[in-house]
Amino acid sequence: MNKQPFYFTWSHQSISAPFPVESAEHDEFVLADGQRVYDFISTSFQTNFGHSNSIIRKRLRSQLDHMPIASPKATFALKSAVSEQLIDRLGLPGGKIFYTVSGSESVENALKMARQSSGRTMILARQKSYHGASLGALSVTGDWRNASHFTVDNHTVRIPEPADDPDLSQTRQIVLDTGPEKIAAVILEPVSGTNGVVVPSQRWFDQIQALCKEFQLLLIVDEVLCGFGRTGPDFAFQEFGLQPDFVCMSKGISGGYIPFGAVWTGPRVVDFYDRAIMACGLTSYAHPLGLAALDGVLEQLSDRSFQKNKTDLEAVFERAMKDFASLKPVSHVRYRGLLAAIDIVDRGAPSWEQCFENGLHLHSKNNTLILAPPLISQPARLVAALDRLKSLFSETSIATG
Ligand SMILES: Cc1ncc(COP(=O)(O)O)c(C=O)c1O
Repeated sequence: MNKQPFYFTWSHQSISAPFPVESAEHDEFVLADGQRVYDFISTSFQTNFGHSNSIIRKRLRSQLDHMPIASPKATFALKSAVSEQLIDRLGLPGGKIFYTVSGSESVENALKMARQSSGRTMILARQKSYHGASLGALSVTGDWRNASHFTVDNHTVRIPEPADDPDLSQTRQIVLDTGPEKIAAVILEPVSGTNGVVVPSQRWFDQIQALCKEFQLLLIVDEVLCGFGRTGPDFAFQEFGLQPDFVCMSKGISGGYIPFGAVWTGPRVVDFYDRAIMACGLTSYAHPLGLAALDGVLEQLSDRSFQKNKTDLEAVFERAMKDFASLKPVSHVRYRGLLAAIDIVDRGAPSWEQCFENGLHLHSKNNTLILAPPLISQPARLVAALDRLKSLFSETSIATG
């Protein structure tokens, strides 16, 4: 039984406390008994810049002393400067940022803005995807704020996974059957996260973009997990040359130091809100501490030695993933940048507990292990963690050198 005065998320409450953590440093947790555990999944994919990042911590401390709280409608230098820098980093034409406090709320607000600005209600979403935990709180809201957005029920249409519809012929038929004039947007993770690190082909992305153009569907890319360097480039959509109308961000946006999120909206949406009331908002909109953390994250991303180290880590990781793919208990390995899924044949996988007892904190579900090491880890430490993981499989010796 859970004897704690709080719930455990996404789990049966009868689990014992999975890890009684005492503190965290750099790329590892320190447990109550002093054991050190490598954070192989960047906590929940947010600790891209580690647990002791001096730049982000410094920015937060000074913002706390200077102005820790601001009205959602306030203008101040940090808000303007950081928004401009983020838009530059996205490399998309112009646009504006809508701030949130989590990934779910970034997605939620992108959906609301897509519906409101297009006047259409349906959303196309992939069969295997995760976009957040909020259940469309607005569908139960009973005042003027609901009217622009319709309810969520029955407004999602599933499209096949890229491998099941490589030329998008089924997806196109789904659009035609649904009625393109009813579809507001397509939402997708460029590289899926906990659903197995699926990397669609360039052809699939090109055709998605073409479909959006043909039927004037808005494109929402969910970069909550991939954004801020996880899959290689700053944002995964950049690798595939996508031209989205919305980019949903969270997790790495503050490195996990403070709950924060953002949605970039493109010129089409900006034009709409130049003429219509923005029927979206949050009490902690553009929270100064979130902005301060983002400022630190952007500085960290611009740092050459950070980028060089990240490239070195990616090379180590790629070599190791190729090696893991040749192990007997492994059926498939998919990876991009510092994100990987390792599928394991029946019962060949080390359990989550086994990994944890051996000093590795990772994601393990349905015979798939997911790895996402902090981008500030050192190559030698990553090699050691990969070696330890490999030793938990039946075969040994990993060529990561
Ligand atoms: C791709 C993606 N979108 C949205 C979310 C939701 O983010 P949050 O848990 O911050 O609400 C997640 C969380 O894991 C995610 O991976």
